[in-house]
Amino acid sequence: MKTLLELITIEMRDAFAKAGYDEELAKVTLSNRPDLCEYQCNGAMAGAKKYQKAPFMIAEDVAEHLKESTYFESVDVVKPGFINLKLSPQCAASYLNEMAQEEKLGVEEEASPKTIMIDYGGPNVAKPLHVGHLRSAIIGESVKRIMRFKGNRVIGDIHLGDWGYQMGLIITELKKRQPELPYFDEEFDGEYPKEAPFTIGELEEIYPTASAYAKENEEYREEALHATYLLQNGYRGYRAIWDHIMNVSVADLKKNYERLNVDFDLWKGEADAQKYIPDMVQMLKDEGYARYDEGALVVDVQEETDNKEVPPCMILKSDGAALYDTTDLATLVEREQDYQPDEVIYVVDKRQEMHFTQVFRCAKKTGIVRPETKLQFLGFGTMNGKDGKPFKTREGGVMRLENLIREINEEMYKKIMDNRTVEDSEAERTAQIVGLAAIKYGDLSNQASKDYIFDVDRFTSFEGNTGPYILYTIVRIKSILAKYQENGGSLDGLTMRPAENVYEKALMLQILKFNDVFEAVYEETAPHKLCAYIYELANEFNKFYHETKILSEEDQEKRSGYIALLVLAKRVLETCIGLLGFEAPERM
Ligand code: ARG
Repeated sequence: MKTLLELITIEMRDAFAKAGYDEELAKVTLSNRPDLCEYQCNGAMAGAKKYQKAPFMIAEDVAEHLKESTYFESVDVVKPGFINLKLSPQCAASYLNEMAQEEKLGVEEEASPKTIMIDYGGPNVAKPLHVGHLRSAIIGESVKRIMRFKGNRVIGDIHLGDWGYQMGLIITELKKRQPELPYFDEEFDGEYPKEAPFTIGELEEIYPTASAYAKENEEYREEALHATYLLQNGYRGYRAIWDHIMNVSVADLKKNYERLNVDFDLWKGEADAQKYIPDMVQMLKDEGYARYDEGALVVDVQEETDNKEVPPCMILKSDGAALYDTTDLATLVEREQDYQPDEVIYVVDKRQEMHFTQVFRCAKKTGIVRPETKLQFLGFGTMNGKDGKPFKTREGGVMRLENLIREINEEMYKKIMDNRTVEDSEAERTAQIVGLAAIKYGDLSNQASKDYIFDVDRFTSFEGNTGPYILYTIVRIKSILAKYQENGGSLDGLTMRPAENVYEKALMLQILKFNDVFEAVYEETAPHKLCAYIYELANEFNKFYHETKILSEEDQEKRSGYIALLVLAKRVLETCIGLLGFEAPERM
């Protein structure tokens, strides 16, 4: 189904052509003066030079041909040459009725779907999940859903950080505490125990202890580095410990992400990419892409047009060890082999931008990905506390994700209990649903690349541009619809009628923008635009609600028209929050 902007543009092109002007001038946009009109065309201004004519005259010629159009209630030409448009209420209603028939509410699926991989989440195994990982999970999940809604084949990959020094640290600390374990006995050639030698709780304590200790103690650090080396070179006992760490951590991570309503198609990690490294390195050498620089193997990626230095991509350290660049390149080899993605999107902290510039250039230059493969870095900003500094606990430590979620949920629980709209037994579950919306909306409503302030009080408020406000609006609609049904009304087969007042019209106009807005959100990978859209939609709905008797409207046709509008408003809102990665409760 064409978007309304597309339809009006066609109408406008026709009018330009009939009036003897170039139809390319007929671009229609949403009005930036909503007090005057709903849509506007500024094409006459652009045509003035070409036709040596006052823009006002061109606009008048064009407007003459729009008189008969069924799309508009009014077409006004204003100085110096704007064409201001108001949609006819009949047109709005019939467009909405058509939209209501569409499974995707008027969004056209991609004619040739793409295979898109999204690399997001990126937690480091055995290190606690902290708020830094929250943004990647929230934004990535929404981007995944948006791409999928458009009909693409989308694969979300968590890309675990599971191959680093943290593993060596844990092994070293474990050896110190339980040297008798068979993993540390080089002679041992039996089967290692199935049971992990630690619980998740212990593991979470082991890492920070070891990490702090290694910072003070040189010898310990050397040992941890050596353990990392042995692990990476296939020492059996350490590989077995690694398996335990992975099993215990991944189970815990799965629980955490489930709570966030974030779900990955692939649980691959840095470790999976290692086996692609030797061949890749060989290729880079054979084809002459790589060179040695002070013992290290590097690939130059500086380009002539750069106005700042882009250092070479580091492939191997002088001791032969692989690096972050190497792993990301090898992961692209793996992805190319398994999925041939048309596009790979990395949702990572924007401070890693240089790393990705290097990796992308190297992958393109050396043919690791095809020339047409689109590699996109979606860098996000820092989540700050109210003091404008990176978010910390009250005690000044790194805030763990779990604690942050708990804090929000407790706040939500208090608010919900104050409202007393749900049973005590339901309040906890409701607090979780609303709390998640508060966190996610608070994050997604900001442009991803910007830093933002995580403000528990503001995010959990039922008023203003917040997740709870959006949910509150949906719940309000649900409750009206439920009452309508209780009184014997059915929600099937209802149709919307032309709006009779400004509030109804404004609500209708906002709803019918959905597919136009979605296109922009999709093209620009910009979930924040979807948030802005639903915030406005919620506002329009609430204004309409306060000005209109809905259930007590006596004219039955009018009433059922309102209900049809509510059903559609709810569907649009629910679709949008689904795309953002959260849901609405029944009551709150
Ligand atoms: N584990 C990394 C970190 O915590 C993020 C991984 C991002 N993805 C990637 N393909 N490098 O910083």
